[in-house]
Amino acid sequence: MTHIYDQDKTYVLNLYDRLNINIINGEGSYLYDDQGNSYLDMFSGIAVNNLGHGNPEVKAAVMKQMDRYFHLSNFFPSEPVASLAKALVENSFASKVFFSNSGTEANEAAIKLARKYGLSKHADKTELLSFQGSFHGRTVGGMTLTGQEKYKESFKPVLPGVSHVIFNDLQDLASKVSDKTCAFFIEMIQGEGGIIEISEKFMNELVELSKKHDFLIIVDEIQTGLGRAGDLFAYEKFEFTPHVVTLAKSLGGGLPIGAMLVAPELESVLLPGDHGSTFGGNPVAAAAGTAVLKILTSNGFLDDVKSKSMYLIKRLNEIAHMHPEIIREVRGRGLIIGIEMYDDRANNVKTEALSKGLLLNVTRGNVIRLLPPLTISYTELDQFLAIFEGIL
Ligand SMILES: Cc1ncc(COP(=O)(O)O)c(C=O)c1O
Repeated sequence: MTHIYDQDKTYVLNLYDRLNINIINGEGSYLYDDQGNSYLDMFSGIAVNNLGHGNPEVKAAVMKQMDRYFHLSNFFPSEPVASLAKALVENSFASKVFFSNSGTEANEAAIKLARKYGLSKHADKTELLSFQGSFHGRTVGGMTLTGQEKYKESFKPVLPGVSHVIFNDLQDLASKVSDKTCAFFIEMIQGEGGIIEISEKFMNELVELSKKHDFLIIVDEIQTGLGRAGDLFAYEKFEFTPHVVTLAKSLGGGLPIGAMLVAPELESVLLPGDHGSTFGGNPVAAAAGTAVLKILTSNGFLDDVKSKSMYLIKRLNEIAHMHPEIIREVRGRGLIIGIEMYDDRANNVKTEALSKGLLLNVTRGNVIRLLPPLTISYTELDQFLAIFEGIL
């Protein structure tokens, strides 16, 4: 047992299934431990390190801001915060941004905005909808929206007025929306839920119903956002404009920051005093975020992500074809890709991969969830494919 593992076990509340590895450094697509081992990181801190580890431009932006100030209260405007908000607005449907520290807090802000919007229409327009199988965070609101019982059964009662619609099921949608609905929270691609994508048919119907019943469509892009799905936002694949988008994870390039992006017609729903956060929109994290966005929106970056995606999915399908007894399906887009396996093989593959210097993540029990750095090279993709194929 490494000293650090031991110390962590002794003093940190036991909520995570830690690996007995002491990571001391990260660079690009690799992490390095204190025993001289390197690990090819195929899940990027669960979609946080989208530009890999130690990106020099993000690091320079952070260091520059650290030299100026670490924190300002929200009594002051802050240059890095205003710059990041401007960059997000200029690259999205939104006209205003609220900053939080995490994804679940961005969703909490969106819940408050939705409830206030509903209440401004009539007294019982407070019902929230989300999908079965979804994941929206661990705070009480986020956990209630999350459509998986295991995350909330020990913590009841949860937030009232929340129902879950069967994923992509038009009939269930029709039976659950009404004039009492104030918002529907969706993930364009369910991440924790096993990399399954919302259908165009469902999306079209949802947009129609949102107009008919006057409810908000709130897109949780905390995992899919900022280049992960090949476009800056995963919603861009469809012909609709969200009312609200929530972000976090990759936004700060590894530093904690979340955001709620708000459409022009909704920017006056929440007013001074309605919401806030001491640390929300930390200047150092915001400086990192501006550097992240600059890279993502630079010429050719997202085209390159799409090309790598096509290559990886094609190669994975070839491998799946050769091992139909192990792999049930390869799915996803951009660099959020699920490899669904039969039985509990995904966890066996994950364990074997670790011993070969490859970091894999498994979700929903039997799905290997690939979330490599968007900056991964073709050589590194080939390295992953060779190790993966060897294990199969
Ligand atoms: C889609 C989605 N929403 C919300 C969250 C919660 O984000 P955070 O852990 O930053 O609170 C996550 C985290 O995995 C997520 O994937």
